[in-house]
Amino acid sequence: MEKRETFSSRLGFVLISAGCAIGLGNVWRFPYITGRYGGAAFVLLYLLFLVILGLPVMVMELAVGRASQRSIALSFQRLEPTGSKWHWYSYLGFAGNYLLMMFYTVIAGWLLYYFVKMLRGDFVGLDADGVAGQFTQLLGSPGIMTLYMAIVVCIGMLVCVQGLRNGVERVNKIMMVCLLVLMVVLAVNSVLLEGAGEGLRFYLQPNFHNLVYDAQGNWILGEAVFAAMGQAFFTLSLGIGAIAIFGSYIGKEHRLAGEALRIGVLDTCVAFVAGLIIFPACSAFGVSTNEGSSLVFLTLPNIFNHMSMGRLWGGAFFLFLSFAALSTVIAVFENLISFTMDRWWISRKKAVLINLVAVFLLSMPCVLGCNLWSGFTILGMDVSGIEDFLVSQNMLPLGSLLYVLFCTSKKGWGWEHFLAEANEGEGICFPRGVRFYVSYILPLIVLFIFVMGYWNQFKPK
Ligand code: PHE
Repeated sequence: MEKRETFSSRLGFVLISAGCAIGLGNVWRFPYITGRYGGAAFVLLYLLFLVILGLPVMVMELAVGRASQRSIALSFQRLEPTGSKWHWYSYLGFAGNYLLMMFYTVIAGWLLYYFVKMLRGDFVGLDADGVAGQFTQLLGSPGIMTLYMAIVVCIGMLVCVQGLRNGVERVNKIMMVCLLVLMVVLAVNSVLLEGAGEGLRFYLQPNFHNLVYDAQGNWILGEAVFAAMGQAFFTLSLGIGAIAIFGSYIGKEHRLAGEALRIGVLDTCVAFVAGLIIFPACSAFGVSTNEGSSLVFLTLPNIFNHMSMGRLWGGAFFLFLSFAALSTVIAVFENLISFTMDRWWISRKKAVLINLVAVFLLSMPCVLGCNLWSGFTILGMDVSGIEDFLVSQNMLPLGSLLYVLFCTSKKGWGWEHFLAEANEGEGICFPRGVRFYVSYILPLIVLFIFVMGYWNQFKPK
């Protein structure tokens, strides 16, 4: 059988896995959720979940991928005891990847469109209201949204058709480094803005009252905790085999805890810096932190309007943000394609073609949900809201739970197998002593927050 491709360099692995982790979750979702649930106190909660939930799950996903040398299509089948049913999850996980892409490609398209708008100078001379008007205009244009979503899908698939080392690895490396450098420059610029203080305090000085009650005095703690957990899994790409696939491409030289830590730290740094760019700008330009999913699109253009050579900086920034989103899109596409290839034994080319059409069609409801179908809501959520909710608050936490049970239960792959795989190689060891915690306490935490979150979000008001 043909040997599975591996990464050509170690930096390549860290950057591409970080490229999968770093994306809209950091620059779009993290700031808006933090803005909604009260700022710094929420950030602390989120960091806690990253450490106590995210990191262990990431080690487990990587281990499943590396031991099985397969994507989620066949990984459970390879490792489970004969006769068990863990592999049923592979279909659900596969569906989760599609569901994620159904809104992800659309929002990545917005970023790309903002890159073009920046270069064209569409924002020049506009005040904050004018900038908001531009965004409303975009939401009302299904044609433009479809076009840019289609561009994102095509670029992603084009990179994937070239195979792993040629395409994915090389492109990602350059994208990631440029993004990191530019973000730091912009954060310094934002912090120095006149009127930045209030936003900075909101972001960095914990006020636990804001985490417990919203502006109207309603109790929101349960919802906030639920959101923080969802965001922790979302930002690390856990629960649907997206990280596992990178495990399947790496060699055995390094222990997985160290790799997970490196990806986690890099990812958290990017989210943190994104907050440093956005929140000072909110107070400086009078944009509410509670704007929801439009937050970055309402704040960023203002920043560039007040910079010398702002069009150029802005263009570059939106370009790199699009790259960050694209690197995630590419990683998830790679997962979809490898699933299709592993499962149905078809060639890479064919798999790419099928998925190109599928992802494009599946992304259309989100496009239309912003305009022609905007009347369609369930429990107050529009189409993209529903899709995001299903993925981030359901599939990712529950999928992660499944990975945990698989790696710790005797009826699954089992603790000893998992530990041996995770600790093969050099570097930081996954401690044996946390067995009780990961087997019993971690699943209970996830389940408890899940049930509580549902209750709070949907209880009769
Ligand atoms: N972590 C990615 C981001 O931050 C999103 C993602 C979630 C990707 C789950 C794959 C799986 O944008």
